[in-house]
Amino acid sequence: MEKQSLIKVLTAAGVGSRRKMSEAIKLGRVMVNGEAVTDFNHPVDMAKDKISIDGREVSTQSQKLIYIMMNKPVNTVSTVSDELGRRTVLDLLPQKYRQYRLYPVGRLDKDSTGLILLTNDGELANRLTHPRFENEKEYSVSTNVPMKAAEMRRMEKGIMLEDGMTYPAIVKRLKGGDYSITIHEGRKHQVRRMFEAMGYTVKSLKRIRMGNLQLGSLAAGRVRELRQDEVDGLISQYK
Ligand code: URA
Repeated sequence: MEKQSLIKVLTAAGVGSRRKMSEAIKLGRVMVNGEAVTDFNHPVDMAKDKISIDGREVSTQSQKLIYIMMNKPVNTVSTVSDELGRRTVLDLLPQKYRQYRLYPVGRLDKDSTGLILLTNDGELANRLTHPRFENEKEYSVSTNVPMKAAEMRRMEKGIMLEDGMTYPAIVKRLKGGDYSITIHEGRKHQVRRMFEAMGYTVKSLKRIRMGNLQLGSLAAGRVRELRQDEVDGLISQYK
């Protein structure tokens, strides 16, 4: 069988995101046939070579690809494990999905709610989180006081945060007084920081859309598998 790079094989095996796998390789946690390998491009033969991370063997046999949307509730971290023992999105997964090595694509703050995608499709996860693909994300935000129209327009044009200017966004007032903001970036706490930079406090933040995926009426803490047209839509958007 043709050899492939270690990073490619690990990402395709659905053990974790490309970023996590790169970190593991860099730190010498990945072994190929019992030897630590720190070269991402180390050639491996999926049929013959034995790969392990932290001593646990990685199955490179193809596993069924699963795509799930969750409405993350508050007080839940969007990581696979948490050193402080807080509840993770994986803790909320129904039993039948626990046999798959699903992991969340992108992050939502502990106190944010809404749409988070969980999958074992490493390649898709990698594409969706890559800045080049400009994955559109829409949030519904409630603020302490109503926003001034001029501030909304400033936010749309781009504002200066400590890590640089934000790209153009779309900001709308929703019925009921909340705001919708659509951004293409995924900087840490970005939406909260944008509102704070304009002098507002974010009371609640919910992701309602990621590209073609709409959260809809999915209840907090619940999951549903994506329909085939949604999976196709995601894949075609990021090809
Ligand atoms: N921006 C934030 O500030 N928090 C989130 O959870 C998502 C986007």
